[in-house]
Amino acid sequence: MFKRFRRLRINETLRGLVQETTLSKNDFIYPLFVKEGENFKKEIESMPGVFQMSIDEIIKECADIQKLGLNSIILFAIPDVKDSVGSECLCEQSLISRTIQAIKKEFPEMFIVTDLCFCEYTDHGHCGIMDPKTQTVDNDATLEISAQQALVHARAGADMIAPSGMMDGIISTLRNALDENGFKDLPIMSYSTKFSSAYYGPFRDVAESTPSYGDRRSYQMNPANRLEAIEESIEDEKQGADILMVKPALAYLDIVRDIRNESKLPLAVYNVSGEYAMLKHAGKAGLIDYDRVMMETLLSFKRAGADIIITYHAKEACKLLG
Ligand code: PBG
Ligand code: ZN
Repeated sequence: MFKRFRRLRINETLRGLVQETTLSKNDFIYPLFVKEGENFKKEIESMPGVFQMSIDEIIKECADIQKLGLNSIILFAIPDVKDSVGSECLCEQSLISRTIQAIKKEFPEMFIVTDLCFCEYTDHGHCGIMDPKTQTVDNDATLEISAQQALVHARAGADMIAPSGMMDGIISTLRNALDENGFKDLPIMSYSTKFSSAYYGPFRDVAESTPSYGDRRSYQMNPANRLEAIEESIEDEKQGADILMVKPALAYLDIVRDIRNESKLPLAVYNVSGEYAMLKHAGKAGLIDYDRVMMETLLSFKRAGADIIITYHAKEACKLLG
């Protein structure tokens, strides 16, 4: 006696009936990168299909993505002027504020998540204020200005704030600042378990955020640590995060499953730039069936336990989902 598994694989309809995991357009958040200027749209060499865009081009892009049935974006702003503390993102007239307002005016239903960090805004490219003594990011000084940045995003009309800098105490700091300033209902999606990863390489081209010295290992996580990865997310849940995240995604699916099992909060994965670039370039070289490998990869995130997928593939995936 043996079990005939193939009975349930006999045709498309039956395979559909017993399918455990599915992808939907509602699963995706699409990253967009905004620059100053007008009529500016520049493709990133390492990430074909991903662009830096001026606000007017972002608006055209939003029309495009809405047509595809995609309704959530995560915004990254790359200002022309950078300094040691990232002042640009702390003023109400910041590039990201103007972008949020412009999008909301044309597309009020577009769900806008904002990435909250300092590496795009600082001249040294680190994720906060540097402590000259230790040559690393000063955690508590960065908390203070992060609260200011969150209020700038909130006042401009952001729908969700996503702190990505891996500062300890960031979630309770932001939650208090938002609550005290009339934004009790604004959710926080924490980049709660974020590894120090070489997979971010192409992103740093597009966000112009490569550190000018050192690396991020004193604040982002060691890829070798599984228990600490769980602790990081559980701590952010305790501090009041509404959604947790694992980043990168593909090399960390074990961590996604671990956190899924430890928390009942919605869980996001960030399918990062290096993961996108690998598929894109392999597809262009004719080495893989790009569409199928992409959909299989995205499905694996859901199967591992993710509810939300932040991905540069979102538009292509929506096209295939029809
Ligand atoms: C900023 C930030 C990074 C990414 C998202 N937000 C880069 C980093 O931490 O160096 C990476 C995204 C990607 O690689 O697609 N802190
Ligand atoms: Zn950063």
